[in-house]
Amino acid sequence: MSLRDAQGNAASTASHEALAAAQKALWRMMSFYGTPLDDLDAAVATDPSWLLPRVMKAGFLLGLTEPSLVGDARATLAVAEPLAARANGRERAHLVAVRLVARGDWSDASAAWEAILLADPRDALALQWALLFDFYRGDARALRERVARVLPEWSDDDPLHPYVLGLHAFGLEESNLYAEAEDAGRRALAGPAQVPWAIHAVAHVMEMQGRHDEGGRWMSRWRPHWGEGNGFAGHLGWHEALFALERLDHEAALTPFDRYLNPQATEITLQRVDAASLLWRLQLQGADVDARWQALLAGWKLEEAQAGLSAFNDVHALIAMLGAGEIGRAEAWLKATLAAAERGAGWNREVMRDIGAPLMCGLIAFAAGRFDAAAEAIHRVRPISARLGGSHAQRDFIDQTLLAAAARGSAKAAGRALLDERALAKPRTPLTEWWARSLDMPRHP
Ligand SMILES: [Fe+2]
Repeated sequence: MSLRDAQGNAASTASHEALAAAQKALWRMMSFYGTPLDDLDAAVATDPSWLLPRVMKAGFLLGLTEPSLVGDARATLAVAEPLAARANGRERAHLVAVRLVARGDWSDASAAWEAILLADPRDALALQWALLFDFYRGDARALRERVARVLPEWSDDDPLHPYVLGLHAFGLEESNLYAEAEDAGRRALAGPAQVPWAIHAVAHVMEMQGRHDEGGRWMSRWRPHWGEGNGFAGHLGWHEALFALERLDHEAALTPFDRYLNPQATEITLQRVDAASLLWRLQLQGADVDARWQALLAGWKLEEAQAGLSAFNDVHALIAMLGAGEIGRAEAWLKATLAAAERGAGWNREVMRDIGAPLMCGLIAFAAGRFDAAAEAIHRVRPISARLGGSHAQRDFIDQTLLAAAARGSAKAAGRALLDERALAKPRTPLTEWWARSLDMPRHP
């Protein structure tokens, strides 16, 4: 006997209880409320022969890009494999996709989830995970088009519809379709559902358009939906800090840092990445954040065995080392991450070769005061930096470091050109003005 989930997808379990637990886990993945692991363990305990909850657990662990969790994910997959024979085709396809992630084949995994979506466009799990790895690969087009392909199949009254709209909003934003993104995000938030990803998508729109005062108010207004008990609080706190940074208010930027990104609040690499990113930007503006660098590094396990899973994460770890003044350690980290990536075979190897390593060289040069070498290295890698993954806003540390290198060295023309380019989306803000002054551009419009 098999059942159907709330979206009408066949589930190869006869246990309503197990199905309800798996659905709760899916909602947690889409809303970031709590961890889905307890629900998935409950589903497994209730129906040990059902493949999907085990695959969901392995996929969730891998999706965190947390080196220390890869072993658990692989062990979970190994136990799941023999259950595939009694699973349905959709569930077996999920197993194949997560297996690809475990091998580091992020691009193929997204393609495998897409195949599921063609048959079952209301498979929210396939959508969520395909988009997660689109995001990790910096593929804005996929982020936009993948949701557009399935959205007409979703009824407005489906409880997960606001979450699908939130995903849509972010894909539109990363494609520079700001008005459409904001509309979709606001529609996702119009009902009672708590959708931090939609709050996030609209925050991105405001960030990209330089609406920093409005952005600060936006984060405050929606804090009840993201500030407590939510796994996305660290990243949304980071966004709140960016709005403060845009108006050069360092103290206000450090308030969300100390609340959401302090070492006690951070549990995983993705949160530490945001912490490093924020401290780096503050330091570029001359803020003294030295003690916070030390605290961040002290809580970040960065042995060589931790390297090579995600170039995006590894670059941010290097930033933390440089921020703390540990240039020798950063140079060793560059070698270790590159070697680890070369030993792998997946997406990360190419990204590390093409973008991660050259960018790290540029960042090390910057920290060592070799500003022209830094500007040259970063300028070269910048046009292809989207493949490093993350959002435009996250990758803006690359541009801001280039601006700083240009301002401190002799490549001022490159810095001025970059600042002019920046004005395409973001009008004049106090931060833009600050960069203009740094680059001797007093008449910057
Ligand atoms: Fe973001």
